[in-house]
Amino acid sequence: MTPPDRAAPARARIQLPRRTLRTDRWWLAPLFTTLGLAAFVVYATLRVFQQDHYWVQEHHYLTPFYSPCLAAQCAPDAALFGRLPVEFPPLVPYALLSLPFLLLFRVTCYYYRKAYYRSVWQAPTACAVREPHRSYTGETRPLMLPQNGHRYFFYVAFAITAVNTWDMLVPFFHGTDGGFGVGLGNVIMVVNVLMLWGYTLSCHSCRHIMGGRLRSFGRHPVRYRLWTGISRLNDRHMYFGWASIATLIATDAYVALMAGGVISDLRFFN
Ligand code: FES
Repeated sequence: MTPPDRAAPARARIQLPRRTLRTDRWWLAPLFTTLGLAAFVVYATLRVFQQDHYWVQEHHYLTPFYSPCLAAQCAPDAALFGRLPVEFPPLVPYALLSLPFLLLFRVTCYYYRKAYYRSVWQAPTACAVREPHRSYTGETRPLMLPQNGHRYFFYVAFAITAVNTWDMLVPFFHGTDGGFGVGLGNVIMVVNVLMLWGYTLSCHSCRHIMGGRLRSFGRHPVRYRLWTGISRLNDRHMYFGWASIATLIATDAYVALMAGGVISDLRFFN
């Protein structure tokens, strides 16, 4: 039997006699993935550039798409970490420092790479489905090199999730009478922060930081326990990815509707 040619097959794509050998509805997953990602990109783009309806003064609700709010135009109480002494021109996001890193963190995520390589770029589309590309270059082209920076984007995303956590805690101390209070907005923000932490901590880079490159787990029991816990979360990384997208949209939409005067907060306590 002829041994496989190890040089050529790395780039050559398998030639299928038909468009697909599959008989199931394999296209459903890439279709829903494309629609889901496109919906999030469109919604987030519109909201980030809107420069309005991001803050509810009465209960100090701040949407995560504008956190930390840095522009001179930010409502003073919304700028928990201070404002820059310059007004941002139209179409410049108020959360200018955090959004690029969050975008890079998501775009370079190992799960999202799989999702958009398959559904959008179609390399490969699915098992046993003919793909449109003649060759495979992996992540070696210049455009793909930022994918290697994922571990660094993780550190920034970790810090921004801590900021989101602070944004979530502050409204508890701005009830209707100015004291402690709980409303539906608080609940939505808590769920969102939990999903954001789930997504951030289940990151493959986080797992590697905790337990990677250790010669002996026995000599590092704390890191071993953390690595074990994060490995369990890591199993659900895809679910946290989609759940956090859903809760980000829900939180932002709730804050935007309140800020626009369309709805008022449903209060459970004060
Ligand atoms: Fe998905 Fe790191 S692998 S966020």
